[in-house]
Amino acid sequence: MTFVKMRLVYACLLMMGALCLYFSMEPFKEFPFVLKKDHGKFLRLPDIDCKQNPPFLVLLVTSSHKQLAARMAIRKTWGGETEVQGQRVRTFFLLGTSDSAHEMDATAQESEQHRDIIQKDFKDVYFNLTLKTMMGMEWIHHFCPQATFVMKTDSDMFVNVGYLTELLLKKNKTTRFFTGYIKPNDFPIRQKFNKWFVSKFEYPWDRYPPFCSGTGYVFSSDVASQVYNISDSVPFLKLEDVFVGLCLAKLKIRPEELHTKQTFFPGGLRFSVCRFQKIVACHFMTPQDLLTYWQAMEASREQDCPSV
Ligand SMILES: *[C@@H]1O[C@H](CO)[C@@H](O)[C@H](O)[C@H]1NC(C)=O
Ligand SMILES: *[C@@H]1O[C@H](CO)[C@@H](O)[C@H](O)[C@H]1NC(C)=O
Ligand SMILES: *[C@@H]1O[C@H](CO)[C@@H](O)[C@H](O)[C@H]1NC(C)=O
Repeated sequence: MTFVKMRLVYACLLMMGALCLYFSMEPFKEFPFVLKKDHGKFLRLPDIDCKQNPPFLVLLVTSSHKQLAARMAIRKTWGGETEVQGQRVRTFFLLGTSDSAHEMDATAQESEQHRDIIQKDFKDVYFNLTLKTMMGMEWIHHFCPQATFVMKTDSDMFVNVGYLTELLLKKNKTTRFFTGYIKPNDFPIRQKFNKWFVSKFEYPWDRYPPFCSGTGYVFSSDVASQVYNISDSVPFLKLEDVFVGLCLAKLKIRPEELHTKQTFFPGGLRFSVCRFQKIVACHFMTPQDLLTYWQAMEASREQDCPSV
């Protein structure tokens, strides 16, 4: 009798051991993998011939299928600008695919109407943002290397395209240039239930290389080709801004300031006409904010703001 009991105990211990081993091994499932550079096909391309009419600045906006209101507000405000300070400017939206046939149809129609959508066949979910950003890099590399500068930004952003253009012209650095809100010393979040959790298997080091907040960064178009080119030899990370930072580190391109004063505001900023005349990008904008603020800025074109 005791012999059978002992066997039962051994069997239980063995099972527990196996379970422990299984759960401790689990993180290996997310062992770093590498992005396939030519992943997926382009489903939709915007209406632009960069060879014929090279733009000075291309703004690439990440958004999801549901964010039609945000795209409309951007088209009516900063995204609608086509010429700033005598420079050609164009805004395009980056999208993946949705499981909903209705959303796919609506997006197809929107693309027919506005011809400003770049879409590839990857699933449009938050943690595919790296794929979305890399689609933008690939599009520049293949279809628009003639652009001088590129901005990658989000659909809840205010962008002062005029001031950005002015600063880029003043800076006059058209190769190996990368700017934005620089995070020189950020580190991976290791708390498992945090939205931005990154395991030691995904990223074993304690520091990230310098990178710019994904809410809005700007670069010379050659950087798009170089990042695209090197992206399949950099361990994939779902945090798109850090991933681009890893590519930049490998390319030995250091993010640099655009201006002596802060112009990128990933944490948001209270609106005033004068304040927003001297910024490049501001986060946490609803579509209604954009429309209201834009109108206020248009209405006060001649308003004298203190020049300090
Ligand atoms: C990202 O897109 C790919 C391709 O469609 C898909 O296989 C993958 O599951 C998506 N990632 C996430 C986190 O859903
Ligand atoms: C921009 O820089 C180039 C050299 O890189 C120089 O030849 C040119 O004069 C500069 N333009 C302005 C407006 O400063
Ligand atoms: C792409 O990368 C390879 C090495 O990985 C390099 O030899 C080549 O010059 C790069 N091309 C561009 C356009 O940067």
